[in-house]
Parts: sequence; C-alpha cells; structure tokens
Amino acid sequence: MKILITGGTVVNASGPFEADVLVNDEIIVALGAPDSPTVESWREGADRVIDASGQYVIPGAIDGHTHMEMPFGGTYSVDTFETGTRAAAFGGTTTIIDFAIQSKGNSLRQGLDTWHGKADGNCAIDYGFHMIVSDVNEQSLKEMDQLVDEGVTSFKLFMAYPGVFYSTDGEILQAMQQASSSGATIMMHAENGIAIDVLVGQALARGESDPKFHGLTRPAQLEGEATHRAIVLARVAGAPLYVVHLSASEALEEVIMARDLGQNVFAETCPQYLFLSDQDLARPGFEGAKYVCSPPLRPESYQTNLWRGLRTDDLSLVSTDHCPFCFKEHKEMGIGNFSKIPNGLPGVEHRLDLIFQGVNMGEISLGRWVDVTATTPAQMFGLFPKKGVIAPGSDADVVVYDPNATHTISAATHHMNVDYSAYEGMQVRGKATTVLSRGAIVIENDSYVGSAGAGKFLERGLNGCLR
Ligand code: URP
Ligand code: ZN
Ligand code: ZN
Repeated sequence: MKILITGGTVVNASGPFEADVLVNDEIIVALGAPDSPTVESWREGADRVIDASGQYVIPGAIDGHTHMEMPFGGTYSVDTFETGTRAAAFGGTTTIIDFAIQSKGNSLRQGLDTWHGKADGNCAIDYGFHMIVSDVNEQSLKEMDQLVDEGVTSFKLFMAYPGVFYSTDGEILQAMQQASSSGATIMMHAENGIAIDVLVGQALARGESDPKFHGLTRPAQLEGEATHRAIVLARVAGAPLYVVHLSASEALEEVIMARDLGQNVFAETCPQYLFLSDQDLARPGFEGAKYVCSPPLRPESYQTNLWRGLRTDDLSLVSTDHCPFCFKEHKEMGIGNFSKIPNGLPGVEHRLDLIFQGVNMGEISLGRWVDVTATTPAQMFGLFPKKGVIAPGSDADVVVYDPNATHTISAATHHMNVDYSAYEGMQVRGKATTVLSRGAIVIENDSYVGSAGAGKFLERGLNGCLR
C-alpha cells in the first residue's frame, strides 16, 4: 500500500519545512519537493493521497511512561493495553513504553512474561517495556543483563513506597553498577519515601485526611533530596540516570547542576506538572482525589521553571505517567484517609495537544514540541531513527496535525477508560486529524480504524542520548 501525504509542513525536531511524504507499506520511503515532477509521479502510483494542506506532518509521538493494567493500592489502573493504546492513537501517540513489574519475591522474568501476556495481541500501536525492579538481589541483578539482550534496556527503581517498590540506597547502587556494565539506563522515582511515611503517619494522627494532605506530606524538598541522592549514587556507579516524573524546582536544580558537570543525567516532566497545581489537589470535598499522583502537583509558580527546563534541555522530554483510576470505584477508596487514594492520573490521550499549547503560549518552538514528544524519547529509549523522525527508512508512524482545530478536553468525549478528565473543560488549539502506525491508518475523521493486535513489541536499543 502506497500513501502520499501532500501539501503539509513537515516538522522534525530540527524544525519545519515544506515536503510531501511517500509511504510504502510500513516505511517512509521518500520526501519530495511539493509540486515537483517527482512528487507528481508518486501521486500517480499512490493507492491513497492524504491532503495535509495547512497542517503539520510530524513523527508519531512516543509516550515513554505509561501504566496500563497496573496493580496499585489494592486495585488496578483501568486502561487495558487495548483501551489505552487506542486512546493514545487518538491523540497522535504511536508508541508507548509501559512498565513491567517485578513483584517482591518473584523474578524479573516472571514480571516481564506477565506484562507480555497483557499486551501481546491487544495493542493498537507499537509498544515496549521498561522493567520495575522492586527486589534487588543476586538473581535479579543477573536477569537485568538478560533483559537488555531482549530489548528491555531501562530499569525503574523507587526511593518511595517503602514495603512495596522501595529499594535501599545500597540496592540502588548495586542496580546502578549492573547498569553501568551493561549500558542500561536506571530510571528513578526520586522521593524520600521513608521521610514521607513519617509525615503521612503524623498527618493522619492529627486527623488530616483530605486529598490535599497527600501533597503536603510529600514536600518538594524531599523530591529535591532524593534526586540529589540518586545523582550521587549514579555518579559513584558510573551509570546513566533518568529521573522520571520530575515535578519540583528543587529537583530540577539538582539535575541542572549534574548536567553542568557533564554527568549523564536526564529527566522527564509530565503535562500535569505543567498545567495543574496544588490548587487542584485542594479542590473542595473529595474532588482533589482526582489529582492525587506522586510526586504531587506543585504550586503554580513551579510551572515557569519546568517550561524553562524544557527550553534549555535540562528537561529532556515529556511523558504522561498515564496511570488512570476511576473516581467512583477507585479514588473513593481514600475517603477519610488520603493515603489510600490510588496514585496516578490519566493522560495518554492528550500529551501532544497539551504540549502543543506550549507552542501556542510561546513557551517552546515547533521543533522542540516534536523533540520532547517524539524525537528525544526515541533517542533516549533506543528507538531512533526507526521512530521519532520523518525521514526515509523510518517507520511510517506519521501524524497529520491541524494546528488550528480547537476542541475541549472532557471525559464525555475522551477515549480513555476512565470516568473523569484531569483537564475537564480545558479548551485547546491543535488536534491530530490522521494517524498512521507503521503505514496503517489508525485514526481518521475522528474515528478509530485500527485494530487491536496490530501494535508490535519493540526490542529497544541502548540510550542514544549519552554524552
Ligand atoms: O502517581 C503515580 N505516579 N503513579 C504511577 C506510579 C509511579 O510512581 O509512576
Ligand atoms: Zn514513579
Ligand atoms: Zn509512573
């Protein structure tokens, strides 16, 4: 099947340019000058011509941080790989990297097999896995190397959630040493969970049970402190470090200092930290539960620093940390005790649109929008240049994006399997109109025309952002 995309402005991380794009089966085979004789000959041979006039033609977005069907706090996040990847496609995301979980007492292999079982045959778009290591021991350290050979090249550890995912500094150091020898990247949930648990216990003893206390018991200093500690441990081990879901200026300062020293330290932030704040967590009644995630939403004033971090590349990219729990069934488990509210926000459908508002607001350039949502994720997670760029030879993951289409984000119209939207009522300008996943059209005319199981598991290479 040959598809010609004509009349659009191609936007890569390097910036915009006018070009028509020829797709043959799963691959982008050529870019041509609009109206040139070459392009006219492509038109004659095309099975399908997509008119992208007045629109951008961008690489399919890559969400490097999702949690489909994730067990948490006695329940599961509500998007399956089928519903979550379909919703992602609606928003112009054509690859997700989800987190497989090693539970305590089990092997990495068991965890990875379980996640393959959940995803295999169900995904609308391509997918890969990071591995959460929650039981660092001799066997799991050895298994880390085996997983690298299978294309799982990044491992998340937690300084938070004692008794569940938490690892001690010694365990973290060992995992980092292992990564240093294999070339894998260690991803870190950097919050001081031991200190947080003390603050949580004290708050509950004082009768402070509302959702806003979730934020007040996870102060920004404890994210800054943990980020600093993770950076020092990675320096000692000689391993690259990737800080996930960075929310606090205090943590960003630590990342900036390490990068200025030339250390291979990277960080992502998420749309919720750029657009939502502790005021949402403090909404009246139990409404704030919709905004409970960790690290928590910070004061609005922090958002300026995060946008600056994205401009200066101290924040390398934006992922969603999509981890949806229904308000009714799940968030309400924490009525009367904020610590029982499952942590996580829905977002996989709206990252591209939300970060495009950064272009509309003048915070980032068009090229940087593509960079932080597609190109750098592809490089960081070993998928470039197969993914993350409109170029001959790359997978035909292509989004036609109308920069002038306005729409309102709402649970009534979104495609995620969750009963609320964290961005309910927000008007955005910009929308994916046609989405191709490896050359197959998956979204057009506001409809899903893909199929569950078309998405393939991606064996990823090593981190391509190392300096
Ligand atoms: O609140 C969050 N972030 N939930 C998902 C799990 C994690 O720590 O990423
Ligand atoms: Zn985390
Ligand atoms: Zn997460």
